[in-house]
Amino acid sequence: MSFPERVKIVEVGPRDGLQNESVTVPAEIKVQLIEKLADAGLPVIECGAFVSPKWVPQMATSAEVYKRIERRPDVAYPMLVPNLKGLELALEAGVEEIALFAAATETFSQKNTNCSIAESIERFDAVIDEAQAANLKIRGYISCVLGCPYEGKVSFETVSMITQKLFEKGCYEVSLGDTIGVGTAGEARDLVEILTRRAPVERLAAHFHDTYGQALANIHAVMQCGIAVVDSSVAGLGGCPYAKVDGMGIATGVDMDRLLEAGRYISDFLGREPVSRAATALLRKRAG
Ligand code: HMG
Ligand code: MG
Repeated sequence: MSFPERVKIVEVGPRDGLQNESVTVPAEIKVQLIEKLADAGLPVIECGAFVSPKWVPQMATSAEVYKRIERRPDVAYPMLVPNLKGLELALEAGVEEIALFAAATETFSQKNTNCSIAESIERFDAVIDEAQAANLKIRGYISCVLGCPYEGKVSFETVSMITQKLFEKGCYEVSLGDTIGVGTAGEARDLVEILTRRAPVERLAAHFHDTYGQALANIHAVMQCGIAVVDSSVAGLGGCPYAKVDGMGIATGVDMDRLLEAGRYISDFLGREPVSRAATALLRKRAG
């Protein structure tokens, strides 16, 4: 298969990138970051999560952040939601798109959401009914698709089963999370080949963390299978590096200079250099 002509980048830095940071990032900084990401032309920016603040304190300001951003008509601003309580908070804030998440292994499901895989999927029913009644768009995530920190290898059949369920329940897209970045290009391709026997490739997204430096290779491999939606995390915060496909002649609509500015902004706040190698190289080049 050949590469897609255009790839949609779903930027998750303000949520996935910041959720693991121990330094509290004030709402105003998150708002500025999100505005800069929108200036860079990103079509989808995940802004935060309505999860328990006891579980993830960094996301406690999500409602405030959402209310303060100047929402642009050509940008979607999804919010992560784990349950009905999260959905209620999202509706109160005026959110128009949510992202639900399940895991491919029982242990990760318990550790991340305090329930089994089956319970998490059952829990989605009420959330999805209410979200659809309010006309929200719903994206789905599956964590640990290429490996689990507790259980090691993951069954691609389980990933396929959960993917089916998320589509049946009404998710418009399912994002495949290599949560701990242990996947390889061969495994990523094998997974997508199995999933696309039952699911349309246009509705799958790659969400590959770069823990072992394999994210770009894995993204390259799944784009060859037809995946045209890639999650990114600015400056390499938490999640993926820049999903930089510009150099391959694949359109993304993202302005690298402006994206660099956004990465610089949040890295300065956190008091460190961007983790992304693309950002480091481009900043060095700029400095001459
Ligand atoms: P629980 O403790 O079982 O929840 O947590 P509970 O229903 O028993 O409620 C306990 C307390 O939490 C109650 O408050 C609830 O009101 C409150 P109390 O009465 O004790 O004062 N509560 C909430 N508060 C705010 N927002 C809510 C909410 N729900 C309950 N939505 C729960 C279950 C799912 C809430 C918890 O496990 C949780 O918040 N988990 C989220 C963990 C998380 O955010 N993980 C990171 C995001 S997922 C990810 O990064 C993977 C991804 O990037 C893809 C990939 O890379 O693979 C998406
Ligand atoms: Mg993630």
